[in-house]
Amino acid sequence: KGAIWLDCDPGHDDATAILLGLHCRNVRLLGVSTVHGNASAENTNNNAARCLYAFAAAEHIRVCPGATKPLIRPERHDPEIHGLDGLGGVEGLPRADTAEVQARLRANGEAIRAIEGIAHAAKNLYKDGIGRKLIIVSTGPMTNIALFVKEIVFMGGGVGIGNRSASAEFNILCDPEAAQIVLDVLIKKTMIPLNVTHTAIVTPAIHHRLLNPNLPPSPDGRLPPAATPLRHMLSTLINFFTESYKSTFGFMDGPPLHDALTIAYVAAPELFTCRRFRVDVELSGTHTVGETVVDVWNYRSCDDSWGRHGKNCLVAERLDVEGFFEFFLGCVERCDKV
Ligand code: BDR
Ligand code: CA
Repeated sequence: KGAIWLDCDPGHDDATAILLGLHCRNVRLLGVSTVHGNASAENTNNNAARCLYAFAAAEHIRVCPGATKPLIRPERHDPEIHGLDGLGGVEGLPRADTAEVQARLRANGEAIRAIEGIAHAAKNLYKDGIGRKLIIVSTGPMTNIALFVKEIVFMGGGVGIGNRSASAEFNILCDPEAAQIVLDVLIKKTMIPLNVTHTAIVTPAIHHRLLNPNLPPSPDGRLPPAATPLRHMLSTLINFFTESYKSTFGFMDGPPLHDALTIAYVAAPELFTCRRFRVDVELSGTHTVGETVVDVWNYRSCDDSWGRHGKNCLVAERLDVEGFFEFFLGCVERCDKV
């Protein structure tokens, strides 16, 4: 099983990434750290702990708090998409101040910060056996990641498209300098851009299967009652996300599960088609700050390294959408059985 660490800013789709990280077959989630982003760092930290509890994570999996602000720029959140606390509209999650959620936090007393948590996990892996490596999965702004790491899979950026400006994607736009630092680090990176995440749409048919996989689709398209409390909770998560994406971006068929794709990529890379390019972040453009500039025509002559002078990033170009949702629903089923 690939050992992963998830650095995230839950966030509806981050929550689904946590679910997959915990319950898919091919990865072992060692820990979770959080970062400012969809909501304040305090909220994203609490939300991750609430999800760990709700998704029946083993007790030793805790949330380590990370950066509360971008490296240079003022922080920004996204209440329009994720509600004020980052998990707007989601029913069935325990409140942050309950004992079971507090037990999932590493924030109290001796705080184990994101970087220490990751270092600790990596050290333990090393003790476990030579040759095992940690993969960092990033589904939020990259402030934590810019400071360390080995291999990175991140949801962020777009090839010619943005979502929080005409050309920039939210995670990159929140902390463009951090993203550029990460892109220049001499390690393997895989980017799951908007072009691909926008194909992973939770359509009413998928929503139906999520609620109750055993009932056939009803002729009037009405959704069935949830088969379990977990499925109800996930359904409310999808409902809120559906409305956000309808009102903000005009997505009429359902919301994209951006962040869940990162875990799917680590666990089942065969679901993706990728190509390696030079990717940089626009840091000073008048209209394009935060844009990921993907050199698809190889204008920059690049060496074979993953660093500053090389084709530094594997970019996902296509997803087997059906295969992904099989994978997703399989994880829900396994979580249900815990
Ligand atoms: C990204 O921004 C956030 O809204 C989501 O959680 C995802 O990580 C999509 O641009
Ligand atoms: Ca996110």
